[in-house]
Amino acid sequence: MRILAIETSCDETGIAILETTGALGAISPRAQIKVLADVLVSQASIHAEYGGVFPALARREHAKNMMPLITKALSEANLLRPHQNTRVLNTKEKEILEKIFSKEPELFENFKTALLDIGIPDIDAIAVTSGPGLEPALWVGINTAEALGTLWDIPVIPVNHMEGHIVASLLAHKAATDGKKNFALTSLHYPALALLISGGHTELVLMPRVGTYEILGQTRDDAVGEAFDKVARMLGLAYPGGPEISKLAETVLAGKKLAEPLPRPMLASKDFDFSFSGLKTSVLYAIKKIPDLNLKTKALIAKDFEDSVTEVLLAKTLAAAKKHNVHEIILGGGVSANKKIRATFINAVRRELPDVTLFLPDQKLSTDNGLMIGVAGLLRSNKVSKKIIAEGHLRLSKNSRPTLAELRKKK
Ligand code: KG4
Ligand code: ZN
Repeated sequence: MRILAIETSCDETGIAILETTGALGAISPRAQIKVLADVLVSQASIHAEYGGVFPALARREHAKNMMPLITKALSEANLLRPHQNTRVLNTKEKEILEKIFSKEPELFENFKTALLDIGIPDIDAIAVTSGPGLEPALWVGINTAEALGTLWDIPVIPVNHMEGHIVASLLAHKAATDGKKNFALTSLHYPALALLISGGHTELVLMPRVGTYEILGQTRDDAVGEAFDKVARMLGLAYPGGPEISKLAETVLAGKKLAEPLPRPMLASKDFDFSFSGLKTSVLYAIKKIPDLNLKTKALIAKDFEDSVTEVLLAKTLAAAKKHNVHEIILGGGVSANKKIRATFINAVRRELPDVTLFLPDQKLSTDNGLMIGVAGLLRSNKVSKKIIAEGHLRLSKNSRPTLAELRKKK
């Protein structure tokens, strides 16, 4: 079966088309996944001016990029076939589509222009991020997904963005003979523990079984990525700040340290929660105290900030892994692209938990993309939804949506 996936939760518009063996609703977690298309437009440079993601702007950019990206993905997947005649919508289809796009007439126009002139592609389902994320941005993806589901008469599967980040870390490259990328999921030993670190989230999640989640701890204020972005801004670095801080920290010579080290927030707390807002304030004080803030002193601050975050994340993760006797630790989310965090986790897990397997996402797959939503969608393809709503604060939990069979019965 083939799935088209849409990601618009934050500032990347991502579309992927994936193919796997097995029917809708019956995909094996060990299935091989072939990537037929994987395209992305990042808005990072547009939001850079504001030092963070501006929701109304994100929505506008998603709407602008959506149809060109879908067309590009279909073409890359070799599924773009011109229609003999422009498709004429019947009254029912028109009614449904007008309702879906009632607040987005421009997107509807783009939709009709891009998709009524092409034949129905050989795609069996649509997967779309339904949350967590910025609601105005999520709606662009959801509305497009529901419209495609109507136009092509296929089911739409809502995907939790955080589950997408988890599966992204579990994808292992397989040799491909036809020039396409091939993957398989590799994680099969539960209980597992996931540390999800992104611009909007910092969560330690226990996975007793595949697809079942229990949040052990989370941030009480800022997410790690958010702290990276804000500290970068204080140091006059560009957005997104994570990679910039990391690059600057790397320039610090061995043995050089900040005179007064930054705090390691909640390192000694007995729970699995985090807090990064105070650390951010400490950076502000450190900056004020240094009379000659040059690139070298900025680098010392960047490094100590990165070290502090890394230490806290590692300590809590190791403690949770030991307490719950996990077999696997999975790192996911944009911040897991950080080299220091990756290297520290690899060494520490090898040293302290030699029987535990550590999964890190491919650097390219660590930040938001459509591919991870497609894979999560395949695994959830027995859970479709009739009406999807954007849930800004959607949490990982036991999934209780109806199965495709149940929905069909209700029809
Ligand atoms: O997962 P993601 O792409 O989007 C969200 O769902 O939030 O994560 C984006 C976050 C940004 O805050 C960015 O600064 C951070 O990931 N990030 C990094 C690195 N690359 C991206 N943080 C630290 N080090 C990096 N190398
Ligand atoms: Zn993300």
